[in-house]
Amino acid sequence: MKTTVHFTWNQLRIFDAVARLSSHTRAAAELHVVQPTISAQIKLLSTAVGMSLFEQIGKKIYLTPAGRELHATCAEMFDCWSRFEMKTADIKGVKTGTLHVAIVTTAKYFIPRLLGPFCRLHPGIDVALEVVNRDQVIERLAANRDDLYIMGVPPDNLPTERHPFLENPLVVIAPGEHPLAGKRRIDLNKLAHEQFIAREPGSGTRIASEKFLASHRIKPRIRMQLGNNEAVKWTVAAGLGIAIVSRHALMMEPMHDRLAVLDVKGFPIRRSWYVVYPAGKKLSVVAKTFFEYLQQEASTIQEELSVPPLRARRAAATRRSPRPSGR
Ligand code: PGA
Repeated sequence: MKTTVHFTWNQLRIFDAVARLSSHTRAAAELHVVQPTISAQIKLLSTAVGMSLFEQIGKKIYLTPAGRELHATCAEMFDCWSRFEMKTADIKGVKTGTLHVAIVTTAKYFIPRLLGPFCRLHPGIDVALEVVNRDQVIERLAANRDDLYIMGVPPDNLPTERHPFLENPLVVIAPGEHPLAGKRRIDLNKLAHEQFIAREPGSGTRIASEKFLASHRIKPRIRMQLGNNEAVKWTVAAGLGIAIVSRHALMMEPMHDRLAVLDVKGFPIRRSWYVVYPAGKKLSVVAKTFFEYLQQEASTIQEELSVPPLRARRAAATRRSPRPSGR
């Protein structure tokens, strides 16, 4: 005989928060309720399902197999509901709803700048933007947590739709006073003698650079690996090594006079930014609107990319023209 499970939407929201955050306390803080409410609602939901949803091992809680199934079901239900909300908004002729976008760290140099005018154009759309490392973007993509994902290296092991929309060139940066700064057409093999400051394993920048160097039989000597572009640039500026970074990471940069972009043969490494989402996902109206906007407006960012970072050029030029003596 078929049994009916009685639950409330609120219980599912609470369950989802506990499952995501692996903690009653953090779920309570996120949902602005007290912890006993969380425990009571999880208990009611477990009773309704007829199975435990979490198990506690030591101080940590883990989803049980039934809990994992319910968590996946919740993601589908929330997704379906938000599509329904957006469709009804669309029928009313208003584009409203929340756009959930997760982007890799390097995309933070241009996505927020595109979001500003997008939000002004569509005042009914709220944006929830997650800026996380590539591994976390892939985790979110696998769990279908957001509407769209922006990354430079889409994963090969997940069925996805991927659409290139903007160039993502990689360049070599060095401290402004580096002996190769200002030199023209530097032989790629010279990089084999340098110490590299690399991004974390799994980063798109790191994957693309290593692939490029390996295709030229160069094994970079990695002196240090750091989890974000800012730390990489400061470390390079401090004279600890050279690095390969996206040209986007050099836009709006207050420390260009301490960095030089090296003119190495084979660089910039040409690649693209992609909008990615799970294969077969039906995009909400809001997600489609943003996707189309990105494709149209990427050209404004593209134009900026074609201009080398100003002060980096100056640093290189200064090295080329020796100062008059006696100053
Ligand atoms: P990253 O990605 O921030 O993970 O390095 C950027 C890219 O793929 O270019």
